[in-house]
Amino acid sequence: MNFLAILLCVALHTEYLVNPDGIETAHPRLQWRVESAEHGQRQTAYRILVASTDATLARDEGDLWDTGKVMSDATSQIAYAGKPLASGQQCFWKVQTWGKDGAASKWSEPAKWSMGLLKPEDWKAQWISFKDETPLPSAHGKLHLPPARYYRKDFEAPREVKRATLYFSALGIAELQLNGRKVGDAYFESGWADYAKRAYYRTHDVTALVKPGGNRLAATVADGWYAGYVGYGLLVGRGPDKTGRNIYGKTPALLAQLEIEYADGSHETVGTDATWETSGDGPIREADLLMGESYDARKADESAWKWTPAIRAEENGSVKAKFFEVGSSHEVDLGFQKPAKLVAYTAPPIRVVEEIAAKKITEPKPGAYIFNLGENIAGVIRLKVKGAAGTVVQIRYGEMLHKDGRLMTENLRKARATDFYTLRGAANGETWQPRFTYHGFQFVEVTGLAEKPALDAVTGLVLSNDTPAAGEFACSDSVMTQFWKNTVRTQRANFIELPTDCPQRDERLGWMGDAQIYVRTASYNADVSAFFTKWLDDLEEAQRESGAYPDYAPYPFAHGEPGATHGTAWTDAGVIVPYTIWKVYADTRVLERHWASMTKFMEWRRKADPELKGVSIGNTWGDWLNVNEATPIEYVDLCYHRLSAMLMSAMADALGKRDEAAKYRDTADALAKSFRSQFVKPDGSLTVDTQTAYVLALEGRFFAEPDETRAAAARLAEKIARNDTRMATGFLGTKPLLLTLTGNGQTDLALRLFQSRRFPSWGYEVEQGATSVWERWDSFTKEHGFDGMTGKNNAAMNSFSHYSFGAVMQWGFQTLAGIDTDGPGYKHIIIRPNPPSVGTTAAAGEAKPIDWVKAHYDSIHGRIASAWRANGADFELTTTIPANTTATIFIPAKDAASVTEGGKALGDVAGVKLLRYENDRTVFEVESGTYRFASKR
Ligand code: BGC
Repeated sequence: MNFLAILLCVALHTEYLVNPDGIETAHPRLQWRVESAEHGQRQTAYRILVASTDATLARDEGDLWDTGKVMSDATSQIAYAGKPLASGQQCFWKVQTWGKDGAASKWSEPAKWSMGLLKPEDWKAQWISFKDETPLPSAHGKLHLPPARYYRKDFEAPREVKRATLYFSALGIAELQLNGRKVGDAYFESGWADYAKRAYYRTHDVTALVKPGGNRLAATVADGWYAGYVGYGLLVGRGPDKTGRNIYGKTPALLAQLEIEYADGSHETVGTDATWETSGDGPIREADLLMGESYDARKADESAWKWTPAIRAEENGSVKAKFFEVGSSHEVDLGFQKPAKLVAYTAPPIRVVEEIAAKKITEPKPGAYIFNLGENIAGVIRLKVKGAAGTVVQIRYGEMLHKDGRLMTENLRKARATDFYTLRGAANGETWQPRFTYHGFQFVEVTGLAEKPALDAVTGLVLSNDTPAAGEFACSDSVMTQFWKNTVRTQRANFIELPTDCPQRDERLGWMGDAQIYVRTASYNADVSAFFTKWLDDLEEAQRESGAYPDYAPYPFAHGEPGATHGTAWTDAGVIVPYTIWKVYADTRVLERHWASMTKFMEWRRKADPELKGVSIGNTWGDWLNVNEATPIEYVDLCYHRLSAMLMSAMADALGKRDEAAKYRDTADALAKSFRSQFVKPDGSLTVDTQTAYVLALEGRFFAEPDETRAAAARLAEKIARNDTRMATGFLGTKPLLLTLTGNGQTDLALRLFQSRRFPSWGYEVEQGATSVWERWDSFTKEHGFDGMTGKNNAAMNSFSHYSFGAVMQWGFQTLAGIDTDGPGYKHIIIRPNPPSVGTTAAAGEAKPIDWVKAHYDSIHGRIASAWRANGADFELTTTIPANTTATIFIPAKDAASVTEGGKALGDVAGVKLLRYENDRTVFEVESGTYRFASKR
């Protein structure tokens, strides 16, 4: 038998995660990948076994579910349909597949998942807190930064432990410890939600941490998003007494439940209740996400703390306060409210995903040591110091330095972003890392040490929801390869609990405009399936009663115009993001889950604009950060309304909702008609004469005739040329700009913009020293520092870690490298690289047009690779198409006869079928495998 023909089943996932604990859905979706070294190999059938024990599975028995041999090529989104699953149940599974010739594969390696606590009554533990007698903080005076609270409970495990599982939730952020060891490696558990409505809980397998005999379960609880400073609340005076903190409640609370299963079959539950003890005397003296953490190592010995009984959280009683919104206030009760629902956390946890060694130390003023990590990250540091007991080390963070070498902190606004560490005086030195805060930084200023520290005194710990890397991009222009790396860094820095706008200043909100612009790029850089699946729940929770999606999710308080909660293009993220997740992962469940919510949104959108003319709704950020070329909000609104309608129609089709698909198509058509009557002049030009206006019109396919489309694309190109070949577009226009240019025959211009080093451009930013994506093209210039090109930039509104303009990497992967899909989920792949035209040379002072690209993308079906090289009229492409998929490949060529594969004329190559020749490209259909095409252009 030819071993190459055998399919391998690998990378088993449950609900997008590897061996997850605490799954809540009754029908978890299973996923694997098939691999084969043989061209054209595909899966024709599968059999899944799900068993209640690993031993049962090892005997090839699926006592929970045995699908039998299912004739299907599906490898993902397969919903478990076996025996009903109970709370806490463990499920072990594996899969076997059959290839195209009917040969069976080996069984995959086993995988597993466990169920969470599925019913409210499964929670036996009680929410606990400490007796909080402090007054509710007021806005007057200094920051209010209470110490973290410690909780503990001793218990006996009298018999041999077979399995122990810890479930917990927090109003605040909690870290649990069992016998002195931290449970799991996640940060900021259990997560941010609108706590009265819903709180996340976490599940950890702690079998290895429970020992026979005496045990101690302990927790450290900090304010987090629940009670700490959130966003720009303090800056603009939101929340109770305009403090910007205690947005959801006054006193953090904890709910923890340890389920122990003994070898003899008996069970025991250890849950939080009033028999727990609590103390506020521990070493963590301050713990705030925005402000920082203070740790007094002299207080580490808990036997010296005063411990008092914990109380049931509700015993702290009600706490009435006046909550300030934009131009109004209302009464709230910040006393404990039991979350209406506890829901399992479905995203990959926030962890340390990389450690960065400091590259350099400077001492701009005596005793202030600045460590340079060499790249802009978000996270915390590990501090390694030696000194006398009681020495206080102050640690400040910044993304940039001033000319004189001082830390630049103006752009942190009200985020204090300062940690303190008080030494206990250990003879061999001591190490520490904060646990309840994070910062956006490249530079770390350490003061208070008696002696100059060594370079390894500071290590950067990069925090991010641990979304596995999915793509890699490199090209002949090293500046643009660097830019791609900057997007990855910036994505990690901002995928912390939610897709944030920026990680450094007092903001860090789930701004929806930014998220919708960037989500597709995000999907090329990393597997963001579970991350966005979770955030879409946050988003639905934040949907306004009117049906509008708000400006950011979660939605702690409003911003912008009085009464406004939403704005064009930001609000549409509620449709664009689910569409993208479906498109990339073939995920129809996410569409079903949010369909009612999206429908409500569309009804609201329709009501807001009954005449379909485009309206100004709420906040009018529009083409935010455009370069002196604003596009009227009504125009942008009409374009986005149509985009949402078109996506709704596609999603309705995917769900088999034919009537709704037709209804949204009609809306989209009516909007196009309205657009043409309002904005298109007889000569085909637009009454709104901005680059963004043309881009959005082309992207939205508003023109009735191909000629009109071509003319509009030519006008856009002309406008850019007249603008000295520079962009004038903001967030909304820049995202589709290059996609639109290439899609309309303007690839050379797209490439020129992509590779430009002149303001405003990505290359400009890199040449000014960017290691991350900046909020503004000129957030820093060598010439004018932080004042921007005009000398007028506001240094406080100037983030150096803002992914929105990084959305161009969608074009980088999809269009330049040419890796795309035409249906959902990369089952049928499009490989359509876009090299510069033959004979294109660099314009004076500009970069040499990219002549090679090497990229890959790990799709849900496996790795898709595209590497091309253009040398004059010679073009080469090496591409890999994963098993169980097919691809249409577009090779730039002067005719079909000039294309070879692996050095052979095409007729001789198995698995490659010539389809047609069109638009200077030879088009082939291929099966899986690696192909080396060469052509003459
Ligand atoms: C954020 C943006 C966001 C915007 C709304 C800013 O403060 O950082 O990225 O989309 O507000 O205009």
